[in-house]
Amino acid sequence: MDMKDLSWFPGHMTKTMRSIAERLSQVDLVIETCDARIPFSSRNPELDRIIGQKPRLVVLNKADLAEEGRTTDWIRYLAKDTCRAIPVDSLHRKGLERVRAAAIDLCSARLERAAERGRIFRPVRAMVVGIPNSGKSTLINALTGRKAALVEDRPGVTRGAQWIRGEGQLELMDMPGVLWPQLGSAHRRLRLAATGAIRDDVIAIEELATETMRLLVDRYPDLLRKRYKLEDLAPSAPLLLEEAARRRGCLLPGNRADLTRFSVLFLDEVRGGVLGRMTLESPSDVPQEDA
Ligand code: G4P
Repeated sequence: MDMKDLSWFPGHMTKTMRSIAERLSQVDLVIETCDARIPFSSRNPELDRIIGQKPRLVVLNKADLAEEGRTTDWIRYLAKDTCRAIPVDSLHRKGLERVRAAAIDLCSARLERAAERGRIFRPVRAMVVGIPNSGKSTLINALTGRKAALVEDRPGVTRGAQWIRGEGQLELMDMPGVLWPQLGSAHRRLRLAATGAIRDDVIAIEELATETMRLLVDRYPDLLRKRYKLEDLAPSAPLLLEEAARRRGCLLPGNRADLTRFSVLFLDEVRGGVLGRMTLESPSDVPQEDA
């Protein structure tokens, strides 16, 4: 897939990375949202370097769209001394209590030290980071009761850092969503684009739909067959896209398949979980150098 257009790194993203590094000393832990369907590809590799050993809670968000068994594999894989992973469905407010409890638990030593110094009630301060469209705003709204109107509906849209008081002991610092230069391997970029993390206006939509079709033939053939009534998945991905477009009635004059219209519809359905729950990568897919 020719994704050279995606090697963009807008100036505000460099600024955000700097701002994350500068503000780290103001928080007890970092809550990182990623997409439970792609828990490797949707995590910003630059953050490891910046965040270092600061306690970290990885929220596997959109867990309602991912396969439960795979999510469990990822939770095991990501758990370390200073890192915990928790499945959350921010949209339907599921898993929020576990986020609150884990955030406090990860900071227990710091809280005990504060209590010894006489600060009986001290808020837990968390910086919330995550790539665009990973559901960071939805999570913050759910945790704090902030109005949903503040959710940005376009991936890539940015705001400045802001503090929001949550229910109970949590205070959250909302950082703008940030991607990273180059966006990694072609596999990684495809998974990011297929799940909607990269804005569609910088992508050739038919090419993305074709590559997504190829990915799903490999990973979820039965879901594809069922949704688009494709009996035989042996033909090439471009032919399958055409066949599926016909079956969905996306036609142009002269009975030609309307690939643009179907590509938009297909990607919408994949991203929205209409075909069924999908996890597009396992811990064994993590490249050795990133493991
Ligand atoms: P961001 O701040 O990280 O950029 O993400 P945001 O909260 O704006 O959420 C991005 C989209 O993901 C929203 O859909 C939101 O409703 C959806 N979303 C967030 N959390 C969850 C979740 O746990 N489960 C599911 N199923 N969806 C979730 P949207 O408003 O339709 O926007 P878009 O997808 O059209 O961009």
